[in-house]
Amino acid sequence: MPSPRKKITVVGAGQVGSTVAQLTAYRNLGDIVIIDIIDGIPQGKALDLQESSCLQAFDSLVTGTNDYKDTANSDIVVITAGLPRKPGMSRDDLLATNAKIVQSVTEQIMQHSRSPIIIVVSNPLDAMVYMTKKTSNLPKNKIIGMAGVLDSARLRTFVSLELGCSLVDVDAMVLGGHGDSMVPLPRYTSVSGIPITELMTQEQIDRVIERTRKGGAEIVQLIKTSSAFYAPGASVVKMIEVILQDKRSILPCTAYLEGEYGWNKIFFGVPVMMGSQGIEKIIELKMNDEEKAALDASAREVKKTCNEIDAMLAQSN
Ligand code: APR
Repeated sequence: MPSPRKKITVVGAGQVGSTVAQLTAYRNLGDIVIIDIIDGIPQGKALDLQESSCLQAFDSLVTGTNDYKDTANSDIVVITAGLPRKPGMSRDDLLATNAKIVQSVTEQIMQHSRSPIIIVVSNPLDAMVYMTKKTSNLPKNKIIGMAGVLDSARLRTFVSLELGCSLVDVDAMVLGGHGDSMVPLPRYTSVSGIPITELMTQEQIDRVIERTRKGGAEIVQLIKTSSAFYAPGASVVKMIEVILQDKRSILPCTAYLEGEYGWNKIFFGVPVMMGSQGIEKIIELKMNDEEKAALDASAREVKKTCNEIDAMLAQSN
């Protein structure tokens, strides 16, 4: 008899994938399959995590594998496979290599799961999630990029550090592409409902925004041998929880646009309502001229990377 528990597949047993698996298990969100191209690593990490279940009090079964058959009938698939950034590399430097990896992963996932919700983490994010849509042909509500939750978490952190206030009281909205052109929105960032434009000087706001834009690079510069994984992993698990518990939370996520915000056929960071069907609604915020110009500039950058994916796909056909 099939298990009534939800099945969550994590592709890539590296830093981000392992963190996602660990937090998903600790929250008892379902059974977990970790799959990687390298033999032994997913199996070893899955066993290690399973052996912590009695200590952490979770019932999730954790399997490690190199065989996509074990991913059959997944409810949610998280794609973290690919190379991470090294110091000095932009997310776009990774495009060609990670696009091929994400394409092959998506093809194999779709051979064994009919209609999963796929959360893409691999960078450059906006292009990778576009590749996943093109390859899977899943409806647009079922393909989601993880960027805005992470970028907003970084902005929330920096606002709370700047003001010396409780972190959990801070809410933030970061939209746009997941790169240097991302668009943090101070008017939609608040502490207990008070917009930060009322609490911080322009200089303070500029400082936290700049740090948010460079948040990923700051971690790479410090660690040197890898990019961030705790906050990215926690961001993914927040999304998994919202979907599996049908919370209908409003989160900034990378969604497929068909006319919203004036853009068509690109994946872009926008506020969405998320629930059991994935992206249930895209929320269109009122933008002032400056915000709209920043979003358009970011969308133009994203469009270029989507065009590169289209060119790659055209060449291989
Ligand atoms: N199929 C499955 N797994 C693969 C494949 C593939 N075709 N190619 C690579 N991998 C695996 C690697 O073997 C490795 O275990 O993906 C894993 C990536 O792990 P890390 O190198 O630790 O990278 P990580 O820090 O987890 O980042 C993964 O997320 O945030 C983004 O920019 C980051 O694109 C990167 C991704």
